[in-house]
Amino acid sequence: MTTQQKKTGLSGIQPSGVPHIGNYFGAMKQFVDMQDELDMHVFIADLHALTTIQNKADLEGQVHNLILDYLAVGVDPEKVTLYRQSDIPEVAELTWYFDCLVTVPWLERAHSYKDKVAKGIEPTVGLFNYPVLMSADILLPGGEVIPVGKDQAQHVEMAREIARKFNNTYGDTFREPEEYVMEHVAVVPGTDGQKMSKSYGNTIPLFGTDAEIKKAIMGIVTDSKGPDEPKDPETCNVFALHKLITSEPQLSEIREGYEKGGLGYGESKKILLDNYLSFIAAMREKRTYYEENPGIVRQILDEGAQKIQKIVHAKIKEVREKVGL
Ligand code: ADP
Ligand code: TRP
Repeated sequence: MTTQQKKTGLSGIQPSGVPHIGNYFGAMKQFVDMQDELDMHVFIADLHALTTIQNKADLEGQVHNLILDYLAVGVDPEKVTLYRQSDIPEVAELTWYFDCLVTVPWLERAHSYKDKVAKGIEPTVGLFNYPVLMSADILLPGGEVIPVGKDQAQHVEMAREIARKFNNTYGDTFREPEEYVMEHVAVVPGTDGQKMSKSYGNTIPLFGTDAEIKKAIMGIVTDSKGPDEPKDPETCNVFALHKLITSEPQLSEIREGYEKGGLGYGESKKILLDNYLSFIAAMREKRTYYEENPGIVRQILDEGAQKIQKIVHAKIKEVREKVGL
């Protein structure tokens, strides 16, 4: 299949916080898995991050870390257009054209905005306008398949409505994007059994130090059954993580150790820790490589920026002409 025949996949990630293994299985790995079948565009949503980060050093550090994390998990810059949102300031320009087409009551319907306001966050205009900027991210490079978590699906729906509105007003200009909700990915449980999430403080950091990872894994909550008692693997938080990390035939042996008794939770956690460290060994090495070679990272980003600028240049020109500027 040639590149022309592949659909354009596009997704952005906000640079915020240290990624955990829920983010890896639920999002990062999906982009890697899709990079062969789609013409993938993955960007660091640094303009969106300004809605929460207003400190230069903090933002720069988070952006840098996210780039390293993505390269480490296997996003391949030869296959994927990897760029920073701010490399194409035209998205902010397009946001303004869209702003003049959509209404305030329509934007007020956004769940994510309503949730934040309900939590007592005093909303900036930027936060309110978040879905419009996201629509520009998607529509300007011609994104067709948009992999996102469930919480972002409505935003892609809004991008589709904006595309339709623009096309109706000014003539056919934008493709209507489709969300690809990664529902088939099981929710990765945290160390306390709830969904693993930064906001619950129950994470296992994807690229933590050995000590941090050990502390998190040894702290996974279990019931109080002793080593010899039979246990149900399907209700055990440790086993749920084994299913993601541990391969056969060891996984079946562990299952048997639970069901027949004989395998204690402590032992099960130690095996998980060993397997997890092996699982991330190659990714860690890659991350260190890029960390020690900032010139290569800079080159990857420069090439990504050039590629995406070329893609959006003609489109924004067409838009300016159509709106009458
Ligand atoms: P957090 O809940 O830690 O703040 P985010 O909301 O930033 O995570 O999520 C970033 C991406 O990772 C989203 O696509 C989300 O669906 C995915 N993700 C987050 N936590 C999990 C989890 N526990 N299991 C599966 N996917 C997850
Ligand atoms: N809002 C998305 C999130 O928080 C990140 C994002 C910004 C995005 N622009 C996008 C995702 C465009 C997909 C397409 O996860």
